[in-house]
Amino acid sequence: MRSTIVYFSQTGNTEKVTYALYERLQARGYTVTPLMYEDAADFPEALEGVELLGVGFPTFFGYPPRFIEQFLRGLKKTKGTSAFVFTTYGGATAGDSLYEAASALKKKGYTILGGLKLEGSDSYPQGRELKINAGRPDEDDLTIATEFVDRILEAKAAGRSLDIEKLATPTPFFAAYHGRPHAALVRKMRKEIEGKIVFNQEQCLFCETCKKSCPTRSIGTGEKFPEFSWKCIDGLRCYQCVRVCPGKALSAEYPGALEDYLKFRAESADSPEEKRRTTIVA
Ligand SMILES: Cc1cc2nc3c(=O)[nH]c(=O)nc-3n(C[C@H](O)[C@H](O)[C@H](O)COP(=O)(O)O)c2cc1C
Ligand code: SF4
Ligand code: SF4
Repeated sequence: MRSTIVYFSQTGNTEKVTYALYERLQARGYTVTPLMYEDAADFPEALEGVELLGVGFPTFFGYPPRFIEQFLRGLKKTKGTSAFVFTTYGGATAGDSLYEAASALKKKGYTILGGLKLEGSDSYPQGRELKINAGRPDEDDLTIATEFVDRILEAKAAGRSLDIEKLATPTPFFAAYHGRPHAALVRKMRKEIEGKIVFNQEQCLFCETCKKSCPTRSIGTGEKFPEFSWKCIDGLRCYQCVRVCPGKALSAEYPGALEDYLKFRAESADSPEEKRRTTIVA
């Protein structure tokens, strides 16, 4: 039995969950290929003929990163291949990210077995500075991931499939946009917390770490310095280049005080009950 888990992870949270899922699936008799989103185009055979596809990503402003949605829209059609989705989020909200990813897979003919959402350390620049959710996902989170595998395999064996509406969030901030284009909501959210990225060329080592790490290939090779188009993720900054820059030539500005970030998180946050709904299985 073959399974492939395609995942994207900037700071390692989703990757940790990927490997917990990987280990359990292997223990349950699957031959699993964990495939980074960045490599997926080079290994199309990893997606051919699998019996179980997993797709994992960090939540970006309540949704999957746009390039993950594009990747899902580019998948070949299938007839009922089983699939599951998972996300890690910084502890504010996973929004409609599981629903959106499952919906894209369903349109391609996949049968959805379940969704998993676990908290991770907050990778947003302000969240990193405030050390929000440091240490997550932890052992308890990874145990939930292991149990999730057992439950989806049980659902698969019983021939059940998930009504993907069950993956939708009841969090009012997102529920109002459920199933609708979410660009306007994301714009509204970004306005409150998203700062500019500043490039200080005196500190640039021309190491191109930023270029190699950019998930949207928005950084090119210039004559003396990298060339930034800042087209980023449909204009949405993920700040990965800032995080990895060894020369500290790139830095993120905040549009307001750090407390504003906490206020913003509180406004869009999931209720405690919604946070406890970590696994949704057919
Ligand atoms: C651009 C961006 C947007 C984010 N949006 C959210 C969000 O809407 N809700 C949330 O709780 N965390 C949000 N986060 C935090 C990440 O979802 C979280 O830290 C995740 O676990 C990172 O996973 P990774 O280490 O696999 O990249 C965001 C982070 C970034 C960089
Ligand atoms: S913020 Fe940096 S790493 Fe992220 S998409 Fe934009 S240029 Fe690429
Ligand atoms: S990672 Fe930083 S130091 Fe390296 S090329 Fe990019 S901006 Fe310059």
